[in-house]
Amino acid sequence: MWAWFEDPGQFTRLRSESARRFGADLTARPERYVEGSLPDLPFPDRSFDLVLSSHLLFSYGRQLDEEFHREALLELVRLSRREVRLYPLFQHTDFTRYPWLDRTREFLADCGVPSRVERVEYAFDPGDEEMLVLECADRGDLPRRAGSRDQHDPVRWRHLDR
Ligand SMILES: C[S@@+](CC[C@H](N)C(=O)[O-])C[C@H]1O[C@@H](n2cnc3c(N)ncnc32)[C@H](O)[C@@H]1O
Repeated sequence: MWAWFEDPGQFTRLRSESARRFGADLTARPERYVEGSLPDLPFPDRSFDLVLSSHLLFSYGRQLDEEFHREALLELVRLSRREVRLYPLFQHTDFTRYPWLDRTREFLADCGVPSRVERVEYAFDPGDEEMLVLECADRGDLPRRAGSRDQHDPVRWRHLDR
């Protein structure tokens, strides 16, 4: 969609500038970045007020199966004190909404995590103007996944215990 970005040239310039700034910050302050891979992220429960994830879940709905989506979403919920926001809801392969969105939301509701779909002022692809918000503030215990490990570093994250 050439509304947010003006044209391919500006898109490339903005992306290049983002990559440059990321590289500079990574070099200057490597402690701000933590490597991890869903569905197991190396942080304690409720580490962040807000968890954002874009262009992975739902986008790769044809490559990443439903089980992976469920596990990854529960992991993001585990880390959040308030909300998880996910964008986009379209699959990047065919520009259609992730087909299992409703039943994924039902699954999350059964786990005590209400959600809502909200319109956003941005579309990467035509029609792709919605995000999913998962409400985490009042959640109870989440189902624990067989084989999941607590892999957070208790020294690095000890400030959260205070
Ligand atoms: C299309 S890029 C989106 C990058 C960025 N979030 C954005 O919106 O511009 C998908 C990203 O997902 C990352 N990724 C792939 N598998 C992952 C996993 N299991 N856990 C976390 N990130 C993963 C890739 O490394 C890649 O950076």
